[in-house]
Amino acid sequence: GSGTFVPAVVVGTGYGAAVSALRLGEAGVPTLMLEMGQLWNQPGPDGNVFSGMLKPDKRSSWFKTRTEAPLGSFLWLDLANRDIDPYAGVLDRVNFDQMSVYVGRGVGGGSLVNGGMAVTPRRSYFEEVLPQVDAAEMYAKYFPRANSTLRVGNIDKDWFEQTEWYKFARVSREQAAKAGLGTTFVPNVYDWDYMRREADGTVPKSGLAAEVIYGNNHGKVSLDKSYLAAALGTGKVTIETLHQVKAIRQQKDGTYLLTVEQKDADGKLLATKEISCRHLFLGAGSLGSTELLLRARDTGTLPNLSSEIGGGWGPNGNIMTARANHMWNPTGTKQSSIPALGIDDWDNKDAPVFAEIAPMPAGVETWVSLYLAITKNPERGTFVYNAAKDRADLRWTREQNAPAVAAAKSLFDRINKANTTMYRYDLFGKQLKAFADDFCYHPLGGCVLGKATDNYGRVAGYKNLYVTDGALIPGSIGVNPFVTITALAERNVERIIKQDVTAS
Ligand code: FDA
Repeated sequence: GSGTFVPAVVVGTGYGAAVSALRLGEAGVPTLMLEMGQLWNQPGPDGNVFSGMLKPDKRSSWFKTRTEAPLGSFLWLDLANRDIDPYAGVLDRVNFDQMSVYVGRGVGGGSLVNGGMAVTPRRSYFEEVLPQVDAAEMYAKYFPRANSTLRVGNIDKDWFEQTEWYKFARVSREQAAKAGLGTTFVPNVYDWDYMRREADGTVPKSGLAAEVIYGNNHGKVSLDKSYLAAALGTGKVTIETLHQVKAIRQQKDGTYLLTVEQKDADGKLLATKEISCRHLFLGAGSLGSTELLLRARDTGTLPNLSSEIGGGWGPNGNIMTARANHMWNPTGTKQSSIPALGIDDWDNKDAPVFAEIAPMPAGVETWVSLYLAITKNPERGTFVYNAAKDRADLRWTREQNAPAVAAAKSLFDRINKANTTMYRYDLFGKQLKAFADDFCYHPLGGCVLGKATDNYGRVAGYKNLYVTDGALIPGSIGVNPFVTITALAERNVERIIKQDVTAS
């Protein structure tokens, strides 16, 4: 074989990757993590690591000439998109033909840009989605392990009831109640005690300063502060940043040889490296891991990969929508960027919906109630390798989101009727549109557990090759997905270390 050899390589530094690296490190296995994004720990010229949502600069976006915020059409709020220099920023929007997918780039993956909502799925739906996984074991062992290692916590309910920062959520709760709908508190990895000190004015604000999708400068326990810090603490794990894995082949002795491009933060190619390893863990996310395997299969570098690679993709039923409140129901000029409540109508058989009550932290009164609805949409998309462009294309049509829109509409029609309110039509693009059905935050699937892999993420057709991330989950999980991704990775890597790694 050629190239630098390491016993284990983990591609990516998101949830599945971070779990794998920590447990490999604890088992004493020298492990190299390769991450295409940056390590976000250096303050920029303004003294902050991240640029914030209201005045985004090049740090906000992954090689764009203009920011692509989800509510970019809300121009008069100064939430407007801005022209920027292409740069290795923290949030990417991958634009496929009829679906755009937001993903995090950097050490910590999606944990750097997400809302931190840490939700354990209801067991009955988990069993429906992944029937071959022992649910009793998941709920007794791996979900608790994931929640504690991620440092998931709950908001103080008394504080929630009286703080101006969650007025927007209380208003939405009251309006849901008028339609007979219940809400539930949502745990989070944001440090709630820190947030209370933000409100008291004793520490710099982050969640209370409209920071979230372009990174939180304070308060959020992202993976670099939890799993990855612990992984580095084992002394066995190293992380290379601005290293993108491009190709994977297998050598005669069974080891894997990776082609890796190292760039600078402005995108200039610095080096092309070859790195070989015995055990290869793919944690590049639903899009990233699937693309690497599709490319390997279709260019013939891993020809025995299964035809299941690329299948079973879904956006977790994500639909964003917004309502316009009456003038006597303001949602507040002060809004925490960290969601704390969800409308739970998942038991509604005709239209199951779990809708996170999302903030609109614009700094001025908008009378808007914003929601990210998670619905149960049976439609699935497929990734195919585009040889001319050397990338994965997503076969998914706008019409496939019609069941998700219908479910969200049935819930919010009820709320509007009970409150004599209307939808907002001006937030999601240039045309009038009440439901954002063309982007998602929760890409799932592409290398589905038990199809493209065995029941533990071992890739079919190859030894010592694993998928560890959201690509394993078949398109839907009914709640925000990172706790499930983390817990499933915990379960799988425990088995793999015991049976495949320690033994070899
Ligand atoms: P993840 O995407 O986290 O990590 C993959 C990593 O691999 C990235 O760092 C990427 O740069 C890297 N990579 C990709 N290809 C590579 C290559 N070829 N070489 C090297 N590195 C490569 N979920 C939730 O549960 N609660 C929430 O509140 C939210 N909110 C939310 C908001 C926003 C704005 C977004 C975009 C997403 C969310 N999510 C969320 C979703 C959640 O963040 C997401 O499900 C997980 O991050 C997915 O974890 P994975 O481990 O699958 O990959």
